Amino acid sequence: TLPITVRSLSEAIGMKTGELSKRLLKETSQLYGNNSPVDFETAALIAVEKNIELIVKRQKTAEELLIEDFERLTREVDSEKLRPRPPVVTIMGHVDHGKTSLLDKIRRSNVAAGEVGGITQVIRAWSVTHKIEDPETGEKVIERPITFLDTPGHEAFTKMRARGANVTDIAVIVVAATDGVMPQTEEAVAHARAADVRIIVAINKVDAPNANVDRTRRQLYNLELLPDDMGGDIQFVETSALTGQGIDDLLNAILIEAEINLADDLQADPDRPAFGTCLEAYMTSDEGVMATVLVQQGTLKLGDIVLCGANFGRVRSMQNDLGLSIEEAGPSTPVLITGLGGVPNADDPFYAVDELTTAAKIAEAREKKDREASLNRFTAVKDIDMLSAA
Ligand code: GTP
Ligand code: MG
Repeated sequence: TLPITVRSLSEAIGMKTGELSKRLLKETSQLYGNNSPVDFETAALIAVEKNIELIVKRQKTAEELLIEDFERLTREVDSEKLRPRPPVVTIMGHVDHGKTSLLDKIRRSNVAAGEVGGITQVIRAWSVTHKIEDPETGEKVIERPITFLDTPGHEAFTKMRARGANVTDIAVIVVAATDGVMPQTEEAVAHARAADVRIIVAINKVDAPNANVDRTRRQLYNLELLPDDMGGDIQFVETSALTGQGIDDLLNAILIEAEINLADDLQADPDRPAFGTCLEAYMTSDEGVMATVLVQQGTLKLGDIVLCGANFGRVRSMQNDLGLSIEEAGPSTPVLITGLGGVPNADDPFYAVDELTTAAKIAEAREKKDREASLNRFTAVKDIDMLSAA
């Protein structure tokens, strides 16, 4: 790594080398030539006097470059092969505002009755099929799949909400009309905006005697969530997870959003090796590592070699959201898989790869990178090899 020199600092902050050497002499009581190294703290101090902030730019390690290359190549999709995929919708909002109840209701009215009893709630991600009328014939029923992710509203789960927002296309912000906007409502909106996902508002619990829909709406407007009649483009739906009121409206709103604002994004190539994101993972005594992953591109198949974060293995079993064994999973499908050699982190990317050796190589690079990242927190200052003026 290259140290900061008088010359590079002079260029970065726009101060003549002679003047800079004098300034350094005053600061450190040492003599400086043009190629003399300058320690970062001194350099930063002088830069600040010029209203310039020095930031450390570390050169990428061999491992980081290897991972970057691998990810770029593996994520390359052929735009000719893209086909529509279901929208991924995350339900977010303050604790107890009815997120899980809404999802339960949605699943109950859209999953065949026989299946409902048998649902094993191993994962908090579900595929649902919503039936809509064919706009042309007005009768034939079109089935539209939607993928839902549930997130907890408790304040301790900020990360999970941020993560939820990152893998989704649409965030449904659930606000109980009984409580109105609360801290995690605002936080959820912030996450959705940061992740640049479309927002739909569900004002829930409208059946409750103490529901105050108008007040709730006003509070939402204050967060600049505006419906079209107020100059915005946010869809508002009033729901009750108890009576089922508005559930159909919510599903329609999701499909409208998908059609009007997201049609170009909601595409994937189902005929390529899969990649996606780990939603959660844990160790079990009998099945080993179990990981819920969201397939985002391609189709994941039983027996595939997968790399997930710094872990890899062969997909030994695969279950869908109903707890049923399946052999393959296409785009926007959440699945529970076993077969990984270690527990990945939620948010880790996963890739189906051709060769075990590739998986092992990238997994090792990732492990090294993670290890170094934790060390670098203490040595970052020594790692300067480049200066940039911000
Ligand atoms: P967390 O996951 O803990 O953040 O909560 P949640 O948002 O998933 O809320 P949950 O669905 O668990 O519902 C919380 C409570 O509100 C439960 O007692 C539900 O029965 C009740 N509830 C949810 N939706 C409605 C509704 O539309 N009307 C009424 N009256 N009660 C509701
Ligand atoms: Mg819940």
